[in-house]
Amino acid sequence: MSDRIALVPGSFDPITLGHEDIVRRALALADRVIVAVGHSAQSQKQGMFTVDERVALIREVFADEPRVEAAAFQGLLVDFARSRGAGLVVKGLRTVGDFEYEMQMALMNRRLLPELDTVFLAPDPAHAFVSATLIRQIATLGGDVAPFVSPAVLARIHAKLGGARSPGVWT
Ligand code: PNS
Repeated sequence: MSDRIALVPGSFDPITLGHEDIVRRALALADRVIVAVGHSAQSQKQGMFTVDERVALIREVFADEPRVEAAAFQGLLVDFARSRGAGLVVKGLRTVGDFEYEMQMALMNRRLLPELDTVFLAPDPAHAFVSATLIRQIATLGGDVAPFVSPAVLARIHAKLGGARSPGVWT
């Protein structure tokens, strides 16, 4: 039987402890997990990390886990899922706001590719309020984000900020 492959898609700018928890739990649902960093060539939104940097950070964070792979994708998630033979999308749900957004995407993805299922996992309550957007904002404004990201990610945030913070740039 072939490997059951799950995708954990997102922007991951940067990957947080909340994301890490979801990826590790997804390993219980599949043989292999692909952390899929979605990006759009048309997107004007400047992130904190480039897509290549996000992928590299995810690889570093999961260096201990051979069943986790990181990859960037462009275009539709369903096309990426088809190209990688993935049958499952796994996402974390923190808030009602997440639910509305994620359910809409899950239903549309189901319409586009019926054999691709989406499952939602409840977050670790310790990370239920953590988002990459808040991490970027707090770090940019000089706050401590050490409790919310892996040491490797923290080091890259500090290197990126380089002591000179630019409020608003990465929000
Ligand atoms: O960090 P996010 O906002 O949860 O990431 C969203 C992402 C990249 C997973 C989502 O926007 C996505 O799947 N984009 C790919 C384009 C696509 O398939 N759009 C139609 C979805 S119904």
